[in-house]
Formats: sequence, C-alpha cells, structure tokens
Amino acid sequence: MSRNPLVLPLTRRSLLLAGGAAGVASMVPAPLRPAAALEATHTLAPGPARIRMVGDAYPETTVWAYDGRVPGPEIRVRQGDRLRIAVTNRLVEETTVHWHGLRVPNAMDGVPHLTQRPIAPFETFTYEFDAVDAGTFWYHPHQRSHEQVGRGLHGALIVEEREPVTVDRDLCWVLGDWRLKEDASISNDFGAMMDMSHGGRLGNTVTVNGRVLDEVPVRAGERVRLRLVNAANARIFGLRFQEHRPVVIAIDGHSVEPHEPEDGRIVLAPAMRVDLVIDMTGAPGDRTTVIDDFYPDRAYRLLDLGYGPDRLRDKPPDTPVRLPANPVAEPDLSAADRHEVTLGGGMMGSMAGAMVDGRMTDMRTLLRQGMAWAINGVSSGGADRHGGGDAGHVMAPILTVARGRTCVIAMANETAWPHPMHLHGHTFRVLSRNGRPTRFREWQDTVLLAPRERVEIAFVADNPGDWMFHCHILEHQAAGMMSTIRVA
Ligand code: C2O
Ligand code: CU
Repeated sequence: MSRNPLVLPLTRRSLLLAGGAAGVASMVPAPLRPAAALEATHTLAPGPARIRMVGDAYPETTVWAYDGRVPGPEIRVRQGDRLRIAVTNRLVEETTVHWHGLRVPNAMDGVPHLTQRPIAPFETFTYEFDAVDAGTFWYHPHQRSHEQVGRGLHGALIVEEREPVTVDRDLCWVLGDWRLKEDASISNDFGAMMDMSHGGRLGNTVTVNGRVLDEVPVRAGERVRLRLVNAANARIFGLRFQEHRPVVIAIDGHSVEPHEPEDGRIVLAPAMRVDLVIDMTGAPGDRTTVIDDFYPDRAYRLLDLGYGPDRLRDKPPDTPVRLPANPVAEPDLSAADRHEVTLGGGMMGSMAGAMVDGRMTDMRTLLRQGMAWAINGVSSGGADRHGGGDAGHVMAPILTVARGRTCVIAMANETAWPHPMHLHGHTFRVLSRNGRPTRFREWQDTVLLAPRERVEIAFVADNPGDWMFHCHILEHQAAGMMSTIRVA
C-alpha cells in the first residue's frame, strides 16, 4: 500500500505541521446573529488565493477559493434558520453558487442561465432561502464546474438538528483531490479529453480540509461525529477505519437507520456526504491508519488517528445515535409516474452517437467536439462547456412531472464507468439496485451507479421549476452527461 498518492516527496516535518492545524479548525461554529431585514447573514467572495496545501517544504498553491480559504468558510446554521448569503465575484470570469442538497426555491439554486443570470466579475448576488432540512451539505459554483470546483471553490454548509445526537466532538472533513505538479501548483490541463471520456479528472494529492494531513488527534473513549464531504471532481473514496467501527447515521444529510457500512468501508462518490458516529475504542498512545482503497490497486494511507495520552471514558456511551427525520414528503408508490433514464457513452461503451443541439452526431464527431456522454441519447453541450457554463437552457427537459406527484425514475447505466447522479431541488429515496430492494431506502440527492447497474429512485415532485439532473463527475457533466427535469 502506498501513502497518499502524492507526486511530491513530503517531508515528515511538513506533514506534522499540516497535522497540527487539523481537526480543530473545522469545529468552530460560525456565529449567527439575528440580522436585520435584508442584511446578509453570510458573505462569500470567490477569487484567486494562495494556500499552503502540501506543507512548508513546498511553495504555496494558487487556487480559486471562497474568502481565500480551501475549503471555503464552513457555514453552520440551525434547522429552520433563514440564510441570506451575499456572493461577490472576485474571479475574472462569471460564477454562481449552488447549495448542493439543500431544497431551495428554484431561483436560489445557482444554475447559470437556467435559474439565474451568472454573477459577473465585481458583481454581488444575494441568495436567500430557509434551511428546511438538517444535515451535512455543501456549496460550489455551477459555472464551468469542472474547473471552478477543481481549482478550490467548495465549502461545507452544515444545518444543525434541533435535537442533535450527543457526541464529544463534531468534525467535518471536506475531502479534496488535486492534480499537482512538482512545484505544488495545480496542473492546468482541465478538460483534457482523456479525463472527459474516461473516469474524470483524478488527482495525485488528496487533502482533508484543504491540506495533506498526517494525523488527526483523538482521545480514548471519546465519541466523534464525523461529517464527510466528497468535494473532488472525480475521485470516489472507500474509507476504512481499521479496528474502529464507524456507524453511518446520515447519507447526503438525511437520517438513515444507524448501521455499519457494508464490508466496513464507507464509499463516498463525488458530491456525496456521509455522517458517521465513531467511538474511539483504541488505547491512549495508539495510532490507527485510515485507508482509502476504493481503487484496490491504488490503495493509500489517508491519515492516522493519533490517540493522545489520556482517556475520556472507559466504555462507549450508550446514548442513541439515530437522527430525527427531515420533513421530506413520502413518495406514494401506488400512484407514481414512472420514467426511464439511460446513461450512455464513454470509452469502452457501446454508444454509437447522440443528439447534440437537435442533431444526430456520431461518436467520433462527439469526441472531437469534447463530448462523450449522453442521457436518454442526448448529449448536452454546445456553448455550455466553453464559455457559457453548466447551463441547462439549451436543453429541453428530459421529463416533466406534475407538481405534487410521485416520480419514480428507473436509471440504467449502460456505460463501463461509475456515475454519481445528482438531482437538484429534491431528495429521493433509493428504492432498488439491479431489481433488489435497498436495505434502508436511503434518502439521497446523489446516487452512485456502478458500471451497468440499474437503480430506481422515487421522490415527490413538490418543488416547482426546471432542475438539473446530472453526473457529478464534473468532467462527465461537462462532456454531456447533464439534463433537466421539469416540475410544473
Ligand atoms: Cu453539486 Cu448540479 O451540483
Ligand atoms: Cu459520470
């Protein structure tokens, strides 16, 4: 097993320094004062910045960041709070902010051209919505996402439950994946055709909260709530905590029956979140390596949990870890509209061609135009990929659901690649995989389909508007795997 799949030979010293800042930084809740009407509760300024990502032995890395930080500032509010977030664009290109997983009104969803005019450089746009659901969410641009997110624009948005589970510490790890050069600068090859038509832009450096970490300090006996956010463009994580037995209490922000993950491995596709409760059952002075072995031939050590010298308690607390449910309408499967969605394209697939801008286009021509994927035979593209951003405006919706109806979507992945499919504006139950009912009927906003897998989801279409429905491997999205669903 290798270490972090890093091109850069890290020194021990830089790793330790990086580790020292870890863990605690993300715990401090942002103070939220009751604001006067129309006054912003939060501000965000996306712009260029320099951060120390891999340690003191290397130069700083130029990134695009919210408020100069990667990840962007953690926004932490209580369920039911109203957020008013003023976003001032300090980039030299247009941007937007999408509140991933939050069920916001359509006009606040941050999709350029589809739900708003993009925010021009120097312009401010204020997003305003209620935090309806509690849970772990995140925010990122929806404009040329594969580059803007990949250069560092992403942050956690945490909505605290009115009655949270009792833990000693609440930690959030925003997982990032970067393609760095020897001098720790970001490789500029965004949109490389190899990445677009295969598994997306996989990096060579994995960060936790924007830094390569060596160790996260823990205490024997403590109970930690660990919120994991996968903010990577393309990397799927499969985390193992060795002799620890993490319990999954939420997926994509929503409560799930507490359970240990299958095979003890937490699989987290791009854009997904998982909340864990981990009892630190080791002894003072222990070290446990957290491993990521999603890609089995490229397993590496993510970081160590380092036990301090003291013990907090002798055995794990017996307080319950089940989270309250969010107010999501229950799908009525006896009266549902059923739709089929087929994912096609990519290398090693069988797709011969797809519709682009209303014209049938063969695979060769598609690839030459930087396209590789299709949803229901349509490859969304045109101006989007280049200047225009991740717009849905050129696409007619692939399906329309009457407001209030239950919608069942049977998705078939007819490609040789995994795809985490994300629906905006709603949360859905994952009903089945390859015809077999899921164990927990999880609420999710992003569901990973393995190659050739079929997955059924269901949701009540109770949020009117045109909503993006796309793959969250951002290179796949940019190369055609995006669509819209209309709720009217
Ligand atoms: Cu995380 Cu369409 O978004
Ligand atoms: Cu995909």
